Amino acid sequence: MKKEWMALAVASALLPGAALAGTAADMQALADKSGCFSCHGMQSKLVGPGFAEVAAKYKGDSQAAERLAKKIREGGKGAWGRIPMPPHGSLAEDDAKKLAEWVLSAS
Ligand code: HEC
Repeated sequence: MKKEWMALAVASALLPGAALAGTAADMQALADKSGCFSCHGMQSKLVGPGFAEVAAKYKGDSQAAERLAKKIREGGKGAWGRIPMPPHGSLAEDDAKKLAEWVLSAS
């Protein structure tokens, strides 16, 4: 864990703006660990929308990260269709926020 923090610290020093979101590889690993990829592709729809599609939909929406972080933790439906996303309540608030920002940066 300590080593990961070091790597993250180095990466954030090199890349301003990466501090909150973590590196792409870190975020991919967190999403994988959290089970997001069983329903989401990076590009295309599986059960839920592709993350790049989500990013395109909320482009320029400064409230989106906050809203999506909440939705990731609490679940919800209606934005993309009738299939609901189940809640991920065991996800730390911080991690949900990071995932939301990472999804919004997908392309
Ligand atoms: C069991 C399937 C499933 C899993 C697991 C899942 N999702 Fe979803 N997700 C969905 C569905 C279905 C939707 C569409 C919900 C809707 O229409 O509002 C969705 C929507 C979303 C949205 C867009 C929400 C909106 O309001 O536009 C984001 C962002 C998202 N998911 C992120 C994640 C992340 C991050 C994870 C992992 C922690 C995750 N999802 C895990 C099924 C899933």
